[in-house]
Amino acid sequence: MAERREQHHRPIRSFVRRAGRLTASQQRALEELWPAYGVEYADELLDFAQLFGRNAPVVLEIGFGNGDTLVAMAAERPDHDFLGIEVHEPGVGHCLIAADKDGITNLRLIVHDAMEVLEHQVPSGSLTRINLYFPDPWPKKRHHKRRIVQPGFLALCADRLAAGGAIHVATDWANYAEHIDEAFTECEHFRCAERREHRGDHPLDRPVTKFERRGLRHGHRIVDWRFEKNAL
Ligand SMILES: C[S@@+](CC[C@H](N)C(=O)[O-])C[C@H]1O[C@@H](n2cnc3c(N)ncnc32)[C@H](O)[C@@H]1O
Repeated sequence: MAERREQHHRPIRSFVRRAGRLTASQQRALEELWPAYGVEYADELLDFAQLFGRNAPVVLEIGFGNGDTLVAMAAERPDHDFLGIEVHEPGVGHCLIAADKDGITNLRLIVHDAMEVLEHQVPSGSLTRINLYFPDPWPKKRHHKRRIVQPGFLALCADRLAAGGAIHVATDWANYAEHIDEAFTECEHFRCAERREHRGDHPLDRPVTKFERRGLRHGHRIVDWRFEKNAL
């Protein structure tokens, strides 16, 4: 009975852990580079000044995939600090290798559900920007509840952003784009500051991502948004 009750309360996750083998170099990176870049999940607020060893604006990327976009942005913006969250270990390994190769110091990674990280580790008003690029589209109707863009997620993001902060979103799924338009229209915390549709040629203040390239190969159109936090 207790078990049944527990199952009932299990949160709906926006991911399933994909099987994917770590290459030997990814495994080595997870062992050797994790101490430099990794942050353990804990039910305790992070102190970003302590974590990065300075006071700088913090950008959070949710679901960074293989991390190429995250590492490129961290390299381009040495005056910002970057925190990446991902649950797919081969992607984390890939990201660690790329960060180390480029000598990136303004980057930290967490391997855990982003919802829980936002809830328990990210202080209110601490982020200057959140990037959510090509979140899993969950195309089947019965799976739409797994889409990460939901009212509770948006309220959480709004709270963790500083005044004047913004969330950047991109998708290549037409139906998810409609869902995102609707969710943000109904959300009092954000206003749409920019919306772009393109064929991979006009990404909004970001490099092209791996999943975007995959979508483009299938002929998908891309939608990019910047939603700014409202002063309520
Ligand atoms: C479709 S991929 C996009 C990856 C990357 N942003 C890109 O554009 O190439 C979505 C990623 O989000 C990750 N993800 C989904 N929900 C997540 C969550 N709640 N916490 C952390 N990562 C999540 C998945 O593991 C997956 O790697």
